[in-house]
Amino acid sequence: MQPRVYDDMGVVERQLEELKSECKADDDVVVSRVSRGETIETIEEMSPNYLETLVEFMLTQHDTEIMSACAYHPAATQKAPTLDAKISGSAVVQDEVGHANLGYRVLSDLGFDKEALMYERDPKEWRNMRVFDEPFENFAEFACGVGFYDRAGTIQIGDIEENCSFGPWRRYERKVVAEEGFHKRLGDMWFKRLGSGTPEQQQALQDAVDKMFPKAIAFLGHPENEGKAIQQIREYSLRKGTNHEHRQEWLRQVYETFDSLEVDIPIGYDESEDEYDVTFDMDWKGVYSEWKESPGPVDHIQTVQGVA
Ligand SMILES: [Fe+2]
Ligand SMILES: [Fe+2]
Repeated sequence: MQPRVYDDMGVVERQLEELKSECKADDDVVVSRVSRGETIETIEEMSPNYLETLVEFMLTQHDTEIMSACAYHPAATQKAPTLDAKISGSAVVQDEVGHANLGYRVLSDLGFDKEALMYERDPKEWRNMRVFDEPFENFAEFACGVGFYDRAGTIQIGDIEENCSFGPWRRYERKVVAEEGFHKRLGDMWFKRLGSGTPEQQQALQDAVDKMFPKAIAFLGHPENEGKAIQQIREYSLRKGTNHEHRQEWLRQVYETFDSLEVDIPIGYDESEDEYDVTFDMDWKGVYSEWKESPGPVDHIQTVQGVA
């Protein structure tokens, strides 16, 4: 028999195609098992489509974890205003590398080649959230990073820890959620310190909020037009909440955090509906074209691979 030709495929695609032959379950069996709250523990219990959906979702989270370490590092350490800021910022960076490693370890238990995932992927093949493609400019931006993006992480990863049908992933997220909670609280503390500080500190925070708030809203996904990938993820019970539910929780927390600060935040609250919303028109078209045209996290990959 002729070997299959995988030359025109990316690293992830090629490994996925090879591993799908180890999936022994029919798709309807998988869906009915996970909808009863059962967990999937091995590749044999998966259908090929469950495996593919799981891997895409896991790579999105864990590529984001490692790229967040690269993006946070310069601002959190070299631009930290105090020693305590530098120490806690370094701890965040270390945590993020640890979170990434947990995911790649589980992917390698499924049969993926971790070395190839780290060293052979084209920048376009990394699935990280685009908010971490560039380094952050200053410490106020780092504060918004942990206060906005890691807050979104606590909500999204908290959902996985509570509801995910893939047992190994669900179990290690307990540790990750606890650490993301520390990152979020660090953001809240710096929001308060900068937001009630000198006029210069308040302005630095305001500039960072203005720049990063819309990126956080993009990170949380479109609240009405959920993409096919998210629908499939929810059908396989890899997470439960909708984009709308996650976004409401995020808006509520940020609204309450900024309530007492001299910094404008573009969130409105409708008391009669008990609903939060942003007070500007979100440019979703621009977001999607930016994501599509991105070359990937080229500089960060060099850092990860040790060639920077
Ligand atoms: Fe993380
Ligand atoms: Fe984090």
